[in-house]
Amino acid sequence: MPAPLDHRQGQRLFFGLPLPDTARAALQEVAEQRPLPPPTRCSLPQNYHLTLVFLGQVDAQRIPCVRAAADRIQIPGFELQLDRLGHWPRPQALWAAPSAAPDGLRQLLRELQKQLQHCGFEPESREYSPHVTLARRLPHFDGPTEMAAIHWHVREFHLYHSQHSANGIHYSPVGTWHLC
Ligand code: 2AM
Repeated sequence: MPAPLDHRQGQRLFFGLPLPDTARAALQEVAEQRPLPPPTRCSLPQNYHLTLVFLGQVDAQRIPCVRAAADRIQIPGFELQLDRLGHWPRPQALWAAPSAAPDGLRQLLRELQKQLQHCGFEPESREYSPHVTLARRLPHFDGPTEMAAIHWHVREFHLYHSQHSANGIHYSPVGTWHLC
């Protein structure tokens, strides 16, 4: 069980896209098709998400501003497709990603970043690289990078609370906003 919330200390938060159950199950199958050597840790399917904006530790007083920023987003839904696998050696992460970020995703990101500036969060300077992390602590990956495409219509985004516990990491949605 994740540790109980201590609202005074703030929370580690990020905005992200959830995967519908069908996409989650399909992605789990992709991850399980490749037995990965120890000490690899596969992400729990219930944790699958695509991060939009990582906020880090947010003071309790700032959280209403973050929620109000999301309230102002008025973006139409869009189609998203995960169709390639990749690996980053530095964080030792295996991920699934869209080969091209759709305009809707870029628009949602831009708008969120713009609104979050009102709360003092500046956009990250590094290029946005949308992905769903499938496994960590995987030093090398030389498997195939193609995968059967998994697509869904994005209708909502979440504010997630990230919590570490003895059982690992747990991401719980603490807010949901619907796209038009
Ligand atoms: P990752 O899966 O590639 O590690 C919660 O940690 C989510 O925010 C993860 O999807 C993580 O991406 C992402 N994230 C982005 N920047 C981060 C950072 N500086 N520290 C931790 N997580 C970050």
